[in-house]
Amino acid sequence: MSSVNEGADMSRPDGPVVLGIETSCDETGVGIVRGHTLLADTIASSMEEHARFGGVVPEVASRAHLEAMTPTVESALAKAGLRFSDIDAVAVTAGPGLAGALLVGVAAAKAYALGLGVPLYGVNHLAAHVAVDQLEHGPLPKPAIALLVSGGHSSLLLVPDVAQDVVSLGSTVDDAAGEAFDKVARVLGLPFPGGPHIDRAAREGSGAAVAFPRGKLDDGTLDFSFSGLKTAVARWVEARVASGETVPVADVAASFQEAVVDVLTRKALQACARYDVKDLLIGGGVAANSRLRALAQERCDAAGVRLRVPRPGLCTDNGAMVAALGSELLAAGVEPSSLEIPADSSLPITAIHV
Ligand code: KG4
Ligand code: ZN
Repeated sequence: MSSVNEGADMSRPDGPVVLGIETSCDETGVGIVRGHTLLADTIASSMEEHARFGGVVPEVASRAHLEAMTPTVESALAKAGLRFSDIDAVAVTAGPGLAGALLVGVAAAKAYALGLGVPLYGVNHLAAHVAVDQLEHGPLPKPAIALLVSGGHSSLLLVPDVAQDVVSLGSTVDDAAGEAFDKVARVLGLPFPGGPHIDRAAREGSGAAVAFPRGKLDDGTLDFSFSGLKTAVARWVEARVASGETVPVADVAASFQEAVVDVLTRKALQACARYDVKDLLIGGGVAANSRLRALAQERCDAAGVRLRVPRPGLCTDNGAMVAALGSELLAAGVEPSSLEIPADSSLPITAIHV
C-alpha cells in the first residue's frame, strides 16, 4: 500500500469514507466519518466486567474486544447505511494504551484494510481525542492549545496542525486527572470509573467546603500533579472516619473536583497566554466533567479565548475520534501506514501516526 489514493475515492464530491477502530482500553469503538461528517459511532464496553475489580483488567479487556469487534463494525455500517465496499480507508488506534487491547484493534484494522484493498492509518489515541472536535465544531483553528485529560493522560499541547504537528507543553508528573477522579471515588465508596459519579455527587455539595491543595499551580511550568491532592483527600476522609464522624461525600467530591478543575483551567489559560493562542480545546474523558466545562467557559470568556469542548459522548473513548483523525490524515495526503505496524503501548504524543 504505497499511495494515499490507492483504494480511496478522493474524487467523490462528499469525500472519502473512513472507518475508525478504537481498542486502547475497555471500549471497543467503531466510528465512520465522511470528511468532517460523523456517519456512525458505535461502542461496546466491557466496563461492567471490570467494575468489581475497581479498574480495567487488561486480559478481560482484550478478550472482550475480540468478541465485540465484528458485531460492532457491522452495527456501525448498518447505522451509517453503508456496506464494506463503501469504506475508502481504515484508521486504528496504534497507541498509547493497553498492549493486548491495542493489538486486537490493530490486527482487525489490518485485516479490514487488506481485505477491502484500502489504505490503513495507525493513529495516536491522544491526537484522536483532539481531532474528534472537528466532527462537531468544524476545522480546528491553527494553532490551537489542547488540554487533554483522560484516565491515562493529562497534557497541555500546542497544536499547529493535528495531522502534522503536535507539541507537548506540559503533562502530569504523577497521576492523570482521570486516575485521580477514579482513586478519590474509591475512597468515597463510589463505583468505578469514578469521574461521572464524582461529577454527579459534587452537584449536591460545595466546592469551597474543604480547601484541598492545588499541586504545581504557580510553579511556572505547564505540568500537573494530582498525587498530593489524592493523598490529601484520603487523609481527610480517614481522619473523619477515625473520629467517628460521617463523611460529607458531596462536599468532599465537590471540593476535590474544584481543586482539579481550578488547576486544569488556570494552566490551560496560562498556555494560551504564553503562546498567544486564542483557541482552547479540551478533550479526553475528564472533559465530560460538567464543572470543568463550566469553569473553563467562564475563564475563557474572561480571557477572550474561544473554547471548544466536544459533547460528552465524544470526550470519552470512541471510534469516531479515530476515524476523524484518519480522515484528517487522508485529506492532508499523509502516506498510509504499513501493514507491519506494531501496537505501541507507550506511543508518544508527538507521533500522530505510525
Ligand atoms: O478518555 P477516556 O474515556 O479513556 C482514557 O483514554 O483514559 O477517559 C476515562 C477517564 C476515567 O478516569 C473517568 O473517570 C474520566 O475519564 N471521566 C470523568 C467524567 N467522565 C469520565 N472524569 C470526571 N468527570 C466526568 N464526568
Ligand atoms: Zn482516551
